[in-house]
Amino acid sequence: MVQVHQHEWWQRDDLHYQNNQLHFAGEYVQKLAHQFGTPSFVYSSARVEANLIRVRQALDAAGLAGRSSIFYAMKANRFAPLLRFIKQTGLCGIDACSPNEVKHALSCGFSPSDISFTATSLSQQDFAELARYEGLFMDCDSLHAIRRWGELRPGSEIGIRINPAVGIGRACNDRLHYAGCKTTKFGIYQEQFMQALELAAQYGLSVSKIHFHTGCGYLTPELEQLDHVITECMKFVDASSDVRSVNIGGGLGIPHLPEDQSLNLEQWSIVLNKHFAHRDLHIEVEPGDYICKDAGLLLLGKTYVEQKRDTLFVGVDAGFNIAPEPAYYGLPFQPVPLQIDDSPLTLTTVVGNINEALDVWYENALLPNLAQHDYLALINAGAYSSSMASNHCMRGEFNEFLLA
Ligand SMILES: Cc1ncc(COP(=O)(O)O)c(C=O)c1O
Repeated sequence: MVQVHQHEWWQRDDLHYQNNQLHFAGEYVQKLAHQFGTPSFVYSSARVEANLIRVRQALDAAGLAGRSSIFYAMKANRFAPLLRFIKQTGLCGIDACSPNEVKHALSCGFSPSDISFTATSLSQQDFAELARYEGLFMDCDSLHAIRRWGELRPGSEIGIRINPAVGIGRACNDRLHYAGCKTTKFGIYQEQFMQALELAAQYGLSVSKIHFHTGCGYLTPELEQLDHVITECMKFVDASSDVRSVNIGGGLGIPHLPEDQSLNLEQWSIVLNKHFAHRDLHIEVEPGDYICKDAGLLLLGKTYVEQKRDTLFVGVDAGFNIAPEPAYYGLPFQPVPLQIDDSPLTLTTVVGNINEALDVWYENALLPNLAQHDYLALINAGAYSSSMASNHCMRGEFNEFLLA
């Protein structure tokens, strides 16, 4: 058993204990749980804006002020009030990956020209629908996509999503790599790139952008790898005559574990500066995780506490299907009690209400005795959670709230 301490690794100005109560976005979380019920996602608009501003400032610090743009990857979280809020910050456009995402972004105030579209395995119907949006920018990720878009929009400008055969992502997590040793479906490889340019030329398409997104969740230790990825990708830029912009994808990560070093954006700027400061190129970045993940909490109701053999279990009223990242990608969401006291901490495993072996929120978290607690919060639930939810076991219900 360990004594409670108030200086948990995840605490920050807008998420911390105040009077022994968890406080988030200016509110006591216990009050939010009472008001909203559980399971509920609560998002801090102030944190989302602060995250966007931090990326904007890092681009400026890289010497890219006035020639760089942010496109928020809405696959991370498409909650309509959140998207409307993001639109009104004026800090970014949208990275969309399906016709329905485009429609939804438009309904939240974005216009087609705010949207950069990058997807994979589009059907003829998808292409036809997308071609109707004047101003939407299409990144083609395959020869097939160039052909289809060329037929529908001959003479237009496109981007090509390339695959540099090197990737970046959270350390030791292959599931978060989109490019690397293993051949993936994402983007056009070097050996087909000339064919891609020729195909584009046949349709009069001008390839004005090179796009790459090679992995997710990178932190400071992976910045050397980012440097390498960009070096490889610039070979594609140098092989194309019409390219005016480069989209370096998303992938900027946030800490999930006490030992994670958060991403140092000053060092990120230095990498971008090295590659782009001297080049006459517009630079785009399309983060999802970094913008929303740490701006969201998932509030859960406690269902039971029970010792089984060597493990103390705490059950909660929602399972992995409403926030699948911990189960699918092995990215744990730290459970956090809503109130703390001087009682000792015990290793506790937090589990959900789905009959699947992978329905484990967190193994061996140090938590106080939760017998008297009604709720528990999971941090980092603001991205790739509600947007990936399913109703497996007919238990997909949850509420979402945007806080100031
Ligand atoms: C093409 C593309 N861009 C951007 C993103 C956003 O990535 P992240 O949320 O890791 O920043 C993704 C995520 O899958 C993606 O596939």
